[in-house]
Amino acid sequence: MEIKMMRAPSVLLTFLISAFLLLPVFASNKVYIVYLGGHNHGKDATAEDFNRATNFHKEFLGYFFESKEKAQQAIVYSFTKHINAFAAYLDEEQVAQISKHPDVISVFPNQLKQLHTTRTWDFVGLERIGIVPPDSIWTKANYGKDVIIAHLDTGVWPESASFSDDGMGEIPGKWKGSCHKSGVVCNRKLIGAKYFNKGYKSVVGITPNGTTRDTDGHGTHTLSTAGGNFVPNASLFGFANGTAKGGSPAAHVASYKVCWPLGCTDSDILAAFDEAIHDGVDVLSVSLGGFSFDYFSDAIAVASFHAMLNGIAVVCSAGNNGPFNGLVENSAPWVTTVAASSLDRDFTNIVTLSNKKQILGKSRTVWELPSKKLYPLINSFDAKADNVSIHKARLCHRGALNPLKVKGKIVICLRGSIDRLGKALAVHGAGGAGMIHVNDVDGVDELVADPYIIPATMISHKDGLRLQSYLNSSKLLRGTISAGKTVIGVKPAPTVADFSSRGPNHITPQVLKPDISAPGVNVLASYTEAAPISPSKYDTRRWPFNLLSGTSMSCPHVAGIVGLLRKIYPDWSPAAIRSAIMTTARTRDNNGEPIKVERTRRTATPFAYGSGYIQPNDAMDPGLVYDLGIDDYMDFLCALGYNSTQLEKLLGKPYKCPIKKTLMENLNYPSFAIPSLNKTMTVTRTVKNVGSPGTYTARIKAPEGILVSVEPQVLQFKEIGEEKEFKVHFESTEGRVGKGYSFGVLIWSDGKHYVRSPMAVKANS
Ligand SMILES: *[C@@H]1O[C@H](CO)[C@@H](O)[C@H](O)[C@H]1NC(C)=O
Ligand SMILES: *[C@@H]1O[C@H](CO)[C@@H](O)[C@H](O)[C@H]1NC(C)=O
Ligand SMILES: *[C@@H]1O[C@H](CO)[C@@H](O)[C@H](O)[C@H]1NC(C)=O
Ligand SMILES: *[C@@H]1O[C@H](CO)[C@@H](O)[C@H](O)[C@H]1NC(C)=O
Ligand SMILES: *[C@@H]1O[C@H](CO)[C@@H](O)[C@H](O)[C@H]1NC(C)=O
Ligand SMILES: *[C@@H]1O[C@H](CO)[C@@H](O)[C@H](O)[C@H]1NC(C)=O
Ligand SMILES: *[C@@H]1O[C@H](CO)[C@@H](O)[C@H](O)[C@H]1NC(C)=O
Repeated sequence: MEIKMMRAPSVLLTFLISAFLLLPVFASNKVYIVYLGGHNHGKDATAEDFNRATNFHKEFLGYFFESKEKAQQAIVYSFTKHINAFAAYLDEEQVAQISKHPDVISVFPNQLKQLHTTRTWDFVGLERIGIVPPDSIWTKANYGKDVIIAHLDTGVWPESASFSDDGMGEIPGKWKGSCHKSGVVCNRKLIGAKYFNKGYKSVVGITPNGTTRDTDGHGTHTLSTAGGNFVPNASLFGFANGTAKGGSPAAHVASYKVCWPLGCTDSDILAAFDEAIHDGVDVLSVSLGGFSFDYFSDAIAVASFHAMLNGIAVVCSAGNNGPFNGLVENSAPWVTTVAASSLDRDFTNIVTLSNKKQILGKSRTVWELPSKKLYPLINSFDAKADNVSIHKARLCHRGALNPLKVKGKIVICLRGSIDRLGKALAVHGAGGAGMIHVNDVDGVDELVADPYIIPATMISHKDGLRLQSYLNSSKLLRGTISAGKTVIGVKPAPTVADFSSRGPNHITPQVLKPDISAPGVNVLASYTEAAPISPSKYDTRRWPFNLLSGTSMSCPHVAGIVGLLRKIYPDWSPAAIRSAIMTTARTRDNNGEPIKVERTRRTATPFAYGSGYIQPNDAMDPGLVYDLGIDDYMDFLCALGYNSTQLEKLLGKPYKCPIKKTLMENLNYPSFAIPSLNKTMTVTRTVKNVGSPGTYTARIKAPEGILVSVEPQVLQFKEIGEEKEFKVHFESTEGRVGKGYSFGVLIWSDGKHYVRSPMAVKANS
């Protein structure tokens, strides 16, 4: 689970076969979601309204089945609260017919999506050496008291100390959720637990265990990162030790379980959102996704649209498809899309050699060789067992090493092909004392601190060559390996994680995505005790905490901060909160240099980190915000090509597209993306003063080869809440045409606030 859920094709095949056997009636059909927009019953809808909605779905589908009974049998889910949609077994002909019906916005298949911290808060400035400064957003927001944060994930391990309700206040009166029949006992911290598996059953054919309990670990990790209580002395076997806590440690949390062993389906996701909106959550953290080509054929985008209509902030992971461009997921403009960066923390150990040289490696092993004793070193290919290839010996496959040659020695193995922990066990199994894992040429300097089960370390390719030359010059070379150690203050940090998905946004490149970057590498948080801590089949150790990496981990960091801002500014829209987070982000690392990409060490662009790395304390006082209301998103959708009739269905109430179509680039977003600049273009933005009265002046660092001007260049605000419009004019220069994106920045400043917006511009002509 380090990065993505593991997929086992043979298991999938078995499930598909059983699906066929278990579903005789609609065996040849698949489940599709028919999306009809929003329900027009209001927030105070009753059970009667919900029944009416279900009945409407049956009648609507009955028309295509020519039988209400058959339609009823085909329906898997009827979403009745906010999202007007149903999921049903349909054949292709029915799909084609239904898609043409004027009341239908989209029909899309129910597909599987995939899942995509102690020291972490320290690094973003919330506390220093365990002490929370009085100007911290934590103090100002009372640690997120009364806020309700929920996730859609693999469920929750309720016994985790992160979900203890020690010191928790009363459950807010508006809360309608519960833990009824969820297999989980709730308290004042964990106030809701529900699971959704009907869509999963329709895809893989088996009904997973009916419980919200997390047997995977991912969900416990994300929920405790967003809103876990304080847990002193948390660590993974002593690594990353400190007090664990979520972004909003005093918030209430709820778990909506939609992910099962092979993934999470669209219809279960819709069901969970519909329920969560109704239950009264304030913030939703969604660390899962899939590739999609259209916002309204993607369950997360559809459902978060309805969450946004209800004032709920939805925070999503950007996906782990990096470092390639254009593969960012969850890129709808009404969600906050989160990229992942490293912390200034690492796990290292040292190989000390008899020639007095030392090599620094990465490891999370708790085992060490005695520092006074020195062990002979041997290349694994020199210790090849008779019956195996040199290739297998080089990579340290199980049974590939000759115990007579390896016994009592440190074995040098090459990285690649097989389970990394398994290699250490192969060495151990052959009687070796320890392992030095040398990176292959492809990996170069990208090292992983693994929880080896013997004294072992991973070293860079370059250091591997160095070690080889020592060994070449003296066959008597000896060495020892220390235990892994947590080190902090690593430089440079943050760096953009290689795996973090990059922009541009392939659905609407006029909206720059991802939005923001947050810690997502080796994050310590609570874990399930129903599964071992690593995906390696050789590791059976269970532990209440675990270190995980992925945009799955960075997303709940931002959800936690959104919870704090919601507490401080209960009237702010989700877009205003996002704007505050984005315009105050930092783009420099702890060397004071532009943030770099982890492996290549090249300067990162806004397609990697969005507006930058989150700075929660600054987000409390952004000065100005780029706000967005429902109408702004509607105008954007008109520009995207939806007509008034369709949009009225989404809203569940009357709406007219503007007579003069606006540009998608004019969405009042806190960043600028111009994917095809045809000589010149002018875009409009409006900023709202949320600080003290002041005079803001524009500063521009134009993208290379693009001329940028702002009008007016000075904005004067006399009161809070005052709004001012400005225009940004872009003009391409000949030399830039056809050369791809270049990046710049616009900053509005009153000398105290720096309201920063990145820009990405591509000149076509
Ligand atoms: C489901 O429950 C059964 C019995 O409690 C257990 O043996 C099995 O491992 C569970 N499966 C999953 C996927 O949690
Ligand atoms: C802290 O945790 C470690 C590792 O889990 C444990 O060995 C130690 O006893 C704990 N210390 C305290 C004071 O609880
Ligand atoms: C982690 O443990 C080490 C060794 O026990 C200790 O020196 C250090 O202060 C601890 N760090 C934190 C953040 O508690
Ligand atoms: C090689 O032979 C040894 C001893 O007979 C056996 O344990 C090992 O599994 C064999 N390895 C392979 C890859 O066949
Ligand atoms: C070590 O010696 C081997 C065999 O003589 C040679 O192929 C290899 O290039 C040498 N490696 C280094 C790093 O000197
Ligand atoms: C709106 O779009 C839908 C779907 O393309 C189409 O059926 C409908 O006629 C359009 N309505 C108007 C008023 O253009
Ligand atoms: C720029 O021109 C291209 C082709 O000439 C066109 O597809 C695109 O829509 C134009 N862009 C804008 C923003 O007008």
